[in-house]
Amino acid sequence: MNLTLRIWRQSGPDAPGAMTEYHVSGISPDMSFLEMLDTLNEELILRGDQPVAFDHDCREGICGACGMVINGQAHGPERTTTCQLHMRHFADGDTIDVEPWRAGAFPVVRDLVVDRSAFDRIIGSGGYITAPTGSAPEAHATPVPKDAADLAFEHAECIGCGACVAACPNGSAMLFTAAKVVHLNVLPQGAPERAGRARAMVEAMDAEGFGGCTNTGECATACPKGIPLTGISVLNREYLRGLR
Ligand code: SF4
Ligand code: FES
Repeated sequence: MNLTLRIWRQSGPDAPGAMTEYHVSGISPDMSFLEMLDTLNEELILRGDQPVAFDHDCREGICGACGMVINGQAHGPERTTTCQLHMRHFADGDTIDVEPWRAGAFPVVRDLVVDRSAFDRIIGSGGYITAPTGSAPEAHATPVPKDAADLAFEHAECIGCGACVAACPNGSAMLFTAAKVVHLNVLPQGAPERAGRARAMVEAMDAEGFGGCTNTGECATACPKGIPLTGISVLNREYLRGLR
């Protein structure tokens, strides 16, 4: 495949950025999107140009590092992470626009890399449980209802990629925060901090500058892990519960 890429280049957080055009050829439809960018970067390095900076780690859809906006869609045309998106979803001769996440709370570090540490601070404000250390507890000491376990597992799938924020017209982090609150609050192990967790995490989210939720649902549509929009309702209930 031969492709035209229009990629956001920005040398630093305060530098002006611009879309820059590149051409790549010999791209296999079986390559991942990141492998296609690797091919471009190898050519740029051989030419003595700066390679395009982009974040990645696992390349298996697990770590959440690899987010970028592809043709206006968070993670591109398939509901998956960018590292799991394959070039077969594009056609020979296509022009592809590649941009970093666009959200005030995710400032650009360089090119396609944004600073998502705001998510870490939200988790730090309440995304933990108090548990005594020491030997492993007896497996049946804390019964967990099946429906609570299923709900917790569903929300624990969040990988913190930030696609929900990038897709939201308000730059809201409600789906992410919901995922982190719900997977702990519905379990008995999360009960000791339940009352304050949602309030603390929502306050941390607001302090980071994320926007408010207006129920557009773009977040859940873009989420590569299928975190359901209903999680936001649960978050709102937990938040009100914490205010009592
Ligand atoms: S809720 Fe989904 S889109 Fe948002 S950070 Fe978690 S995995 Fe990514
Ligand atoms: S590089 Fe880890 S999810 Fe894509």
